[in-house]
This record gives sequence, structure tokens and C-alpha cells, in this order.
Amino acid sequence: MKFFIDTANLNDIREANDLGILDGVTTNPSLMAKEGITGAENILQHYVDICNIVDGDVSAEVNSVDFEGMIKEGVALAALHKNIVVKIPMILEGIKAIKYLSGKGIRTNCTLIFSSGQALLAAKAGATYVSPFIGRLDDISTNGLDLIAQIRLIFDNYAYNTEILAASVRHPMHIINCAEIGADVMTGPLSAIKALAKHPLTDLGLQQFLADFAAGNK
Ligand code: G3P
Repeated sequence: MKFFIDTANLNDIREANDLGILDGVTTNPSLMAKEGITGAENILQHYVDICNIVDGDVSAEVNSVDFEGMIKEGVALAALHKNIVVKIPMILEGIKAIKYLSGKGIRTNCTLIFSSGQALLAAKAGATYVSPFIGRLDDISTNGLDLIAQIRLIFDNYAYNTEILAASVRHPMHIINCAEIGADVMTGPLSAIKALAKHPLTDLGLQQFLADFAAGNK
């Protein structure tokens, strides 16, 4: 499973990249705003800065909601760097834009997926990735992981190349469950990625090894 980090924070991106296990980055307009990145030029430059840190796919989201606007933005975003994947919202105009952009060889990530029907539509349009938001489904008492499993089944039934990018990941169990189900990619915060390494028995065991080494090498 590929690991993407879901942030626009350059320090978090660097820290995850330094671990050597990072395959890409996803962002969205809310994450950009959270980092205080505003204005078209600054946002475009921030995408380039991210691409200069990570050698992997970087999702950059359009802000238009009409076909013409989305393809104009998408073409401009894709021209920024070879690793940019254009993030398009799951609306009918977005499906048209995904079809158009994929026909031009521009890779896309269909975002705000909350049902398997939406994922199927995006795959038929040629999306490179679909992003089902599992945490936000959990937030409304719906099992987000069930959606990942449904999409996995559908994509496998028809051998769709579209990758399932489990988004809105909130904690390490989401990552482990996504890996069990067979999501192609997960995107989550640095905290969830780092939490995978934690186990109290590892800490205790290491403490003991270090103490025994120190005692034997006085
Ligand atoms: O980037 C899309 C998605 O991962 C957002 O996550 O935590 O805002 O639901 P969240």
C-alpha cells in the first residue's frame, strides 16, 4: 500500500519524507488555508515547493465547479510539475473534466467520494485515483471502511486501473484496516503514520536491551 501524507505543512511533509516511506502528498483548499497559503500565485508556488520535497504524486485541487473552469485550472496545475495529479470534485461537471483531462494524459484524483456509485463513475471517466473519505463517514455513524471494501470489489470485478486512495484517515487503525482490505493508497496525517511504529513492548524491550548492554560493558 502506498503512503501519502494529507497536509500542506512543509515541515510534516519533510519529516514523513525523511522516514523514507512516503509515496506522495494530498492537499485540499482547507489544508492550504490552514497553513495560511492564500492567493493563486502562492498556492501554485506551494505545490511546486511540495514537489521539490517529495518524489511522488502530489494532488493539487481545482477550485472551479464548472467544466471549463476545471479543465483550465487542471491544465495549469499539471504544467507545474510532472508529479502533479489534478484533484477534481465528485460532481457531474467533474466527471466530464476527468474524462477530458485523462484523454489529454493528465492524471486525476476524484475527491469527495462517499459512495461506491460515485467511485464507479469516476473510474469509468478514467480517474487515476478515487478518494473515498472514510473518517468523515465514520463521523456520521457510517462505516467508512465498508465503502473501501465495496469499491475494492467493484474495481476488481472489472479490472479498473483506477487506484483506491483511502482519504480522511484519522488514526493508525484506519491505515491497518485499509491495508487489510486492499486499498491501493492511504492518505493521512503525520501523527497516524508515526503511531504505526509505537508499541509499549518495543519500548520496554529496547530499554532492557540497552540496560543489559550497559551493564555488560562497564
Ligand atoms: O484530503 C481529503 C481528506 O483526507 C480530508 O480529511 O480529516 O478533513 O476528513 P478530513
